[in-house]
Amino acid sequence: MLDVRIGPIELKNPVISASGCYGQALESEAFVDAHVPGALLLKTITLHPRAGNPPPRIVEVAGGILNSIGLPNKGIERWLTETFPKVRGHASKLFLNIAGERTDEWPKIAARIGATPGIDALELNISCPNVEQGGLPFARDPETVARLVRVVKNETPIPLIVKLAPESPDIGGIALAAQENGATAVSLINTIRAMAVDWRSRKPKLGYGFGGLSGPAVKPVALRLVHEVARRVKIPVIGIGGIATADDVLEFLVAGATAVQVGTAAFRDPRALATIVDDLPKLLRDAEVAHVRDLTGTLRMPGAR
Ligand code: SIN
Repeated sequence: MLDVRIGPIELKNPVISASGCYGQALESEAFVDAHVPGALLLKTITLHPRAGNPPPRIVEVAGGILNSIGLPNKGIERWLTETFPKVRGHASKLFLNIAGERTDEWPKIAARIGATPGIDALELNISCPNVEQGGLPFARDPETVARLVRVVKNETPIPLIVKLAPESPDIGGIALAAQENGATAVSLINTIRAMAVDWRSRKPKLGYGFGGLSGPAVKPVALRLVHEVARRVKIPVIGIGGIATADDVLEFLVAGATAVQVGTAAFRDPRALATIVDDLPKLLRDAEVAHVRDLTGTLRMPGAR
């Protein structure tokens, strides 16, 4: 009833933890068993260690949060040797989000990962709004995306998911560039560049000044973009953006997604992933939908009856 396919990867349900919202290992295991989501997607790892951005790194705003975490991590070498052995085999499927600061770093990360058994997919984070090098500029140019996907693919047989930015001038064109160069899927949206201001101190509330907005406030934007992208590409689309309930999941599927990622909701309720997975079968049964995949792309737009 719940299983879906992302290219060659079979997920037992369409719910994936969003990068940064479960951990870089099993940090959230006390709340949600890592086998519960269809896949556990771990937070971004880069080639070299990164300290991340100055605090405060997260502020709450109406309808969500702003983050400017800045991709702190200990680098791919230490992640593979120190962290990965503790995570390997502990999730139904394990996806890893990776990012390069410069174009030449991506194939180096991919080469180090190679064909590592136990990593089922790599999500290419071309869309982080919180870093000075890399991040958003990658996501704006189809040629750059095409080249990145090609060079990463040359170094690893692991399926690639390209994480898209809501700010791309032509997000469908970017998704097509990913598809045509061998990406297995695209995921969207990453956070929307935003800021929060403390008028008394005349300072931004985030240590980095800007951040990325996520949570319920971005859901309508994400639904529109998922719908737009799903009509342009044949590869699976993974929806992200303010998903907090099983109803939200099914909305994204109807809009065109094959699977979804749950992020900010886990900060409000650390058990959100599990609750959402538990609630899906009843919603499907009540609506007499035999299988979750029967919903993908079934949105009836006005004039398209
Ligand atoms: C961050 O670490 O700054 C967030 C990651 C992202 O938005 O891609």
